[in-house]
Amino acid sequence: MIQILDKSFDVYIPEATLEARIKALAEDINQAYAGRTPLFVSVLNGSFMFTATLFKYLTIPCEITFIRVASYHGTASTGSVKEVLGLQENPADRDIILLEDIIDTGRTLEALLPLFGTARSVAVATLLFKPEALQANLDIAYVGFEIPNRFVVGYGLDYLGQGRNLPCVYQLWEG
Ligand code: XMP
Ligand code: MG
Repeated sequence: MIQILDKSFDVYIPEATLEARIKALAEDINQAYAGRTPLFVSVLNGSFMFTATLFKYLTIPCEITFIRVASYHGTASTGSVKEVLGLQENPADRDIILLEDIIDTGRTLEALLPLFGTARSVAVATLLFKPEALQANLDIAYVGFEIPNRFVVGYGLDYLGQGRNLPCVYQLWEG
């Protein structure tokens, strides 16, 4: 059990399990994108650790860029997506793979997808997915772990800005 600010969390996905699953996702992507040079678009801040681990296991030619969306505060989604910052590369005719830390309501992703209308293809890879929270009709090609609709931190994800450094995914303690 760990404490971040006013809340307690316990380990939900250990580090070795995360690493092994992300490696398997990278191997799936290596196969599916053989002969292409995808442009990965990593959605900061939360996806930095997932992105770094995935990248160690990619063996295909690939490029990466980082974007930012601010839409979430505390432990409940505000449901309002703000600005998208940082997309400098032209997605036209590219094979885009969006990298997300977590898909909750799906609203963030829904707001991002129109930016890639001119792409040759768009796929989404997310470390975590909360199917019970989903409020959008989305096709998610690569999912690390489906998790229940409970707040998680660690491995890039934060609670009020803290906890991103934790090497495991932790779940809010409601015991
Ligand atoms: P939506 O609802 O748009 O949410 O799919 C996606 C963004 O919301 C944040 N999010 C979380 N962050 N623990 C977190 O630390 C969570 O359990 C959680 N659920 C959603 C996250 O920034 C994600 O990109
Ligand atoms: Mg956050």
